[in-house]
Amino acid sequence: MENWLEKSVFYEIYPQSFYDSNGDGIGDIPGIIEKLDYIQTLGCDAIWLNPCFESPFGDAGYDVSDYMKVATRYGTNEDLEQLFHEVHKRGMHILLDLVPGHTSTSHNWFKKSMEPKQNEFSGRYIWSDNIWTDVAGFPGISGSLRGISQRDGSVATNFFSHQVALNYGFAVRTASWQSAVDSPEALATRQAIKDIMAFWLDKGCDGFRVDMAGSLVKNDPESRETIKLWQDMRAYLDENYPEAVLISEWGEPDKSIKGGFHMDFLLHFGPSHYMDLFRCDHPFFSREGKGDASKFVETYSNNYRLTDGKGLICIPSGNHDMLRLRRYLDQSEMKMAYAFIMSMPGVPFVYYGDEIGMRHLDMVSVEGGYERTGARTPMQWDSEKNYGFSTADASSIYTAQDTACDAPTVSGQMEDSDSLWNEVSKLISVRRVTPQLWASSKIQFVYCEPNRYPLVYLRSNSSGRVLVALNPSSSQVTCPCMYTPKKAIYTLGEAVEFVDGILSMPPESAAYIEV
Ligand code: NOJ
Repeated sequence: MENWLEKSVFYEIYPQSFYDSNGDGIGDIPGIIEKLDYIQTLGCDAIWLNPCFESPFGDAGYDVSDYMKVATRYGTNEDLEQLFHEVHKRGMHILLDLVPGHTSTSHNWFKKSMEPKQNEFSGRYIWSDNIWTDVAGFPGISGSLRGISQRDGSVATNFFSHQVALNYGFAVRTASWQSAVDSPEALATRQAIKDIMAFWLDKGCDGFRVDMAGSLVKNDPESRETIKLWQDMRAYLDENYPEAVLISEWGEPDKSIKGGFHMDFLLHFGPSHYMDLFRCDHPFFSREGKGDASKFVETYSNNYRLTDGKGLICIPSGNHDMLRLRRYLDQSEMKMAYAFIMSMPGVPFVYYGDEIGMRHLDMVSVEGGYERTGARTPMQWDSEKNYGFSTADASSIYTAQDTACDAPTVSGQMEDSDSLWNEVSKLISVRRVTPQLWASSKIQFVYCEPNRYPLVYLRSNSSGRVLVALNPSSSQVTCPCMYTPKKAIYTLGEAVEFVDGILSMPPESAAYIEV
């Protein structure tokens, strides 16, 4: 495990919407450099940057057309190198977003692959051998394109129809056009991805967040071949870039960590029960007190047991694919959610704007965002034009912004000692100086019953134990708790009490207590 991950807190930047330094209405890399001090002031010391490469932006950059070139609208490769340098100068780290599962249909690999004459890229994508034979319908293939070129075959897509699936082979082959995982063409795709990683690692990035990491090998029961593929990628990195960090968008940490990832995200889809906490009709962190954290805890505990000591499970405040947390929780409820996020194992991720509780806006889709677009609106820095995001005309900025008279801003909240921003910043600094709360310190759940509050757990390492108690509900609650409090290191709301083996928690209170 890379040491720096232990006490890190990440900040996710969606480059389109962070800070526009040249007044063209869209965020850019020099703009990120200008705001690094801000990220550091908040307390975050690492960055995950969403894709910033050449792309037709049919899926906000997850449809790459050149992996080795920064999109002109964001700047140049030199700007990105400068960002790496400025990040490291501050003792911070940065991960780029690697999209190995698919490219845009406008990638040169695909243009060559569409040619009827056999060439180096004929096997780079998943093609059938006849236009009437559909590649769709096999596990791992979401759709297909046919009739788009003179090549006689249909080709697999991965997500949107313009994102063509790269060919890593099939674990179980049922047709002759399906490549084996160790076929020359599947190995060539692997090598191409290694080359891309090497290209950016040589320039100074610290690693990658890997998009749809579990989806590469098709028809792969139990993901066995996909795990082996990532083990091979990791072996390559270990030999050449041993410090490179990988975090997966996979959502099955036992598999991804076996594949060599340092960490995996808790996802908002699939079996994680992440949504029960933050984003459902009755979220656990709402003060109405009708939530249920028990299924989350059960799933989490199971994954934790499978991965403890091997890798980390990371909990994000949100990301560019989810509705903003603020859609479900108000600013005060969000403080409680952060008291949870900042005290769990793994590495916490703060999605830009979530530190001030930016709203989820309902708007027409931009760049394939659809309902996600409302979570991708430009950062609200201050009360200047376009909330300080850009000097361009409001009509030409990336997306519309919050028009509410109480739209949160960074400058407004930094000045207000009671703001969400200040609470998030305080929580990050408490975490940073408390080794019991770091990424790989242990967790043991002390109280979590179906449809009940509070949620109580113990974090520990060789230096001691910290009890975390969270009562988001608006009622006074109690639970059995045999620990003897020594010192409170963080309190939200009124103080909790321990009497005769009972923990008593006032409404909307949280505490981290050395025991
Ligand atoms: C997951 C990314 O986070 C999302 O934004 C993207 O649309 C899909 N993968 C496809 O790459």
